[in-house]
Amino acid sequence: MTLEITPEQGGQRLGSGAMFDRIADRYDLLNRIISLGIDGSWRRKTVRALGLGDDAHVLDVATGTADLALEIAGHAPSAHIVGLDPSEGMLAVGRKKVDRAGLTDRVSLVVGDAMSLPFEDATFDAITIAFGIRNVPDRPKGLEEMLRVTKPGGTLAILELSEPEGGVMGSLAKMHVHTIVPFVGGLLSGSQEYRYLQRSIAAFPPADQFGQIMHKAGWEVERIEPLTFGVAHLYVGRKPA
Ligand SMILES: C[S@@+](CC[C@H](N)C(=O)[O-])C[C@H]1O[C@@H](n2cnc3c(N)ncnc32)[C@H](O)[C@@H]1O
Repeated sequence: MTLEITPEQGGQRLGSGAMFDRIADRYDLLNRIISLGIDGSWRRKTVRALGLGDDAHVLDVATGTADLALEIAGHAPSAHIVGLDPSEGMLAVGRKKVDRAGLTDRVSLVVGDAMSLPFEDATFDAITIAFGIRNVPDRPKGLEEMLRVTKPGGTLAILELSEPEGGVMGSLAKMHVHTIVPFVGGLLSGSQEYRYLQRSIAAFPPADQFGQIMHKAGWEVERIEPLTFGVAHLYVGRKPA
């Protein structure tokens, strides 16, 4: 299933690297405010789900400003991490953070697309992608590429936003996603881009359907876990040994 959102902004697809180039400098601040800081705990959970050995070789797809890549580096002290993203602007912000953390020997950031990963088969012990799979136009192809570059028995952890569940807290979360997020995002970024967030969440398949897409792409789906009243889901898969 692909995202049915019409191109805007000079014909460039919303959610592409070009869109993220435009908001790269404000992305981290917007992310913290919009997620009310909860994204940090979701990221930690995502990294723990990988069960990494200390010296693991990990690929973080759609790495953006490298928050998850840095989280992995902190969690597994000898791990080597490659962060990949099509947005040079996001990677430039990420590179400064990697420099500041003194991690240039273990974290490298490269330009690339999830649908055509520039790596040999069976290169990585684990793959992560946080808030990124939503933006990949051909998700099955992206998932197949991730499978190809993972070693047999290796893990995949996908963190992605979703439509919150019902109930009082779910309804409050829904209101946050549908009204406050685009309002605050639009105000702070001075652009329309953050409306894309709300619309792309609504266009993303329900968690069980996305699990089936992972399965069809060849992943053994080990766990699908709703986070914070279903505002996000963690999907954990394994490449058959
Ligand atoms: C919402 S940001 C997430 C960044 C980061 N993973 C995080 O957790 O903050 C989505 C990222 O997906 C990237 N992206 C868009 N299209 C992509 C594609 N086809 N392949 C890989 N990444 C893509 C964007 O450039 C952007 O950096």
